[in-house]
Amino acid sequence: MHSDNFNKWAGAILSALLLLFALGVVIKETVPEGPPAKAGYEVAELKEAAGGVGETAAAAAVPEQPIAVAMKTADADTGAKLSKACQACHSFDKGGPAKVGPNLWGIVGRKVASMDGFGYSEAMKGKGGNWGYDELYKFLANPKGVVAGTKMGFAGYPKFDDRANVIAYLRTFADAPVALPAP
Ligand code: HEC
Repeated sequence: MHSDNFNKWAGAILSALLLLFALGVVIKETVPEGPPAKAGYEVAELKEAAGGVGETAAAAAVPEQPIAVAMKTADADTGAKLSKACQACHSFDKGGPAKVGPNLWGIVGRKVASMDGFGYSEAMKGKGGNWGYDELYKFLANPKGVVAGTKMGFAGYPKFDDRANVIAYLRTFADAPVALPAP
């Protein structure tokens, strides 16, 4: 009796060990070895550079990207949420009214200070040119720094991806969205 039981247990344990061993081999072969993709390294380095103070500091350490690069990963849905701040002062829809600021329908590529009947500041009227992607990208980082004397009372979005996301949403308010900037 005793030795029968022993054989049963020994057999069970042996099979379990074999199974574990086999699994180990399979896992070893399916999980790639070697260094992780470069992106992982960069995040780790940034976190270290930020002194491990956490996500926000690490994110702030991501350097400003050129507009064409920033627009590649921009997300209009995120931009829609961020643009709630703009909509306190701007309507986006076609033929929408001026609020505190002018209507922004078709703003990408639109002539600066061109909403009929809106009382722009002298500073904005004097800026000249069109609101291309890059102009918007720079203006929204620091409105008062870019157009000194503007009456747009908005501090700006310092993070480049916030601006790119807002612009990705803004560009949809047009009969035909302006082609994204080429690198
Ligand atoms: C507190 C109100 C306010 C907020 C918030 C605000 N704006 Fe403005 N915006 C204005 C005013 C006022 C002007 C007109 C500025 C002038 O004439 O100097 C303006 C002008 C502009 C212009 C130039 C329009 C033209 O016809 O040339 C753009 C582009 C713009 N805003 C985009 C934005 C975006 C995008 C946001 C959100 C990220 C935003 N604004 C947030 C008040 C605001």
